[in-house]
Amino acid sequence: MSHQSLPGFREFFPADFAARSHLFEAWRRVAARYGFEEYDGPPLEPLELYTEKSGPEIVGQLYNFTDKGDRQVALRPEMTPTLARMVASRANGLRKPIRWFSIAQMFRYERQQRGRLREHYQLNCDLIGEPGPLGDAEVIALLIDLARELGLGSDDVRVRLSDRRVLAALLRGAGVTEAQLPLAYAAIDKRERMERPALEAMLRGVDGSGMSEPVAARVLEVASLHRLDAVEKALTGVPGGEAALLPLRQTLQALAAMGLDGWVDVDLTIVRGLAYYTGTVFELFDAGKSLRAIAGGGRYDDLLGRLGGVDLPAVGFAMGDVVIGDLLKERGLHPAPTPAVEVFIAGVTDDDLPHVLALAHECRDAGLRTEYALTAQAVGKQLKLADARQARVAVLIGPDDRARNEVQIKDLTAKAQRSVSRTDAVAALLAARS
Ligand code: HAM
Repeated sequence: MSHQSLPGFREFFPADFAARSHLFEAWRRVAARYGFEEYDGPPLEPLELYTEKSGPEIVGQLYNFTDKGDRQVALRPEMTPTLARMVASRANGLRKPIRWFSIAQMFRYERQQRGRLREHYQLNCDLIGEPGPLGDAEVIALLIDLARELGLGSDDVRVRLSDRRVLAALLRGAGVTEAQLPLAYAAIDKRERMERPALEAMLRGVDGSGMSEPVAARVLEVASLHRLDAVEKALTGVPGGEAALLPLRQTLQALAAMGLDGWVDVDLTIVRGLAYYTGTVFELFDAGKSLRAIAGGGRYDDLLGRLGGVDLPAVGFAMGDVVIGDLLKERGLHPAPTPAVEVFIAGVTDDDLPHVLALAHECRDAGLRTEYALTAQAVGKQLKLADARQARVAVLIGPDDRARNEVQIKDLTAKAQRSVSRTDAVAALLAARS
């Protein structure tokens, strides 16, 4: 029997857990700044919640099984369908736009590789009930501010922004039929991970049943469009082109007004693998593009209607903890972990033990992170443990100190020692903290 953890599942030792907490705290701070409220849903869901809505990529990665009640269930691979169901079930009672976020663990049976595991935590931020481009700009600004909060700049990470409405207009203009659009999206999504001949073959379809050769070539041309002016030029004369471009242009204008346009690149390669996006789509990448996507999202105006029968537009994104964690580590942006113990209390003789326990408990009541040796041992050994714990101060209690109603406070960094009255000990330790 193997006692190893499963491939793609992490164990969080205290230092890893501290890094994770640092990330989650930053996520919560920034989401709060945008007026987002936290929610959660069930980690196990009916299988059909995903088979119908998420699209083939995620469905192929589901952790699903039949439970003891004969139900077809799946561990959640993403939050969006759960969120859509939750909001739809109370849609009338909720003030729009709804601004909700969650931090939850997801499960996908993926091939394990750098940046992709079989479990990960995601921050999901979604804005529901706002159809206009200010909603899109709002969640993209939130995403950028998450990067800023973690110490990253626009040289470190880039938002790659596209819009399926623009892409659809260009693809239709290139001769792609309505039925072929999903195939074109799938090929564009794989553009950076597949060689051109394989992409062309994908677009042509098995035995040439897909697009003609010139149409396939034009699809790949569309996908290589970067920058707004190039997209504008390509849209000239395309039916519906101007209307399709308006939301993207307005989103960029709003981001520019916030001073955040320098973080964003228009890039039509971005289509997103998930099936439910209807408009704006975006991903956050490290600027060198050496890592997988840090975050991804977009507008999904039909999902709440399809899942819960309510007509509510929505836009949002999710950021995983794995790639951003790798990037922060690479850049040395993980903060040094806070030592678990601030104050170590040491007794000189066995008779001092009750006094050590009493002071330790007072310190803990005062909010000081406090430890003492759990077995009788020489002072030197106790101080070694204090050092190993990186405690800032040690308090020494011996028979002579007790006779004078005093304790010794030893600063373990400056190596200075002073006597303090027992009554003032906790106050002195608190004062020494700042
Ligand atoms: P997604 O692009 O599938 O979108 O995932 C979002 C982020 O989760 C990715 O950019 C990545 O950081 C992280 N992620 C995904 N899969 C893995 C994995 N196997 N291992 C590690 N990290 C991973 C969604 O899930 C959408 N539901 C996002 C959304 C919210 N759209 C609208 N609202």
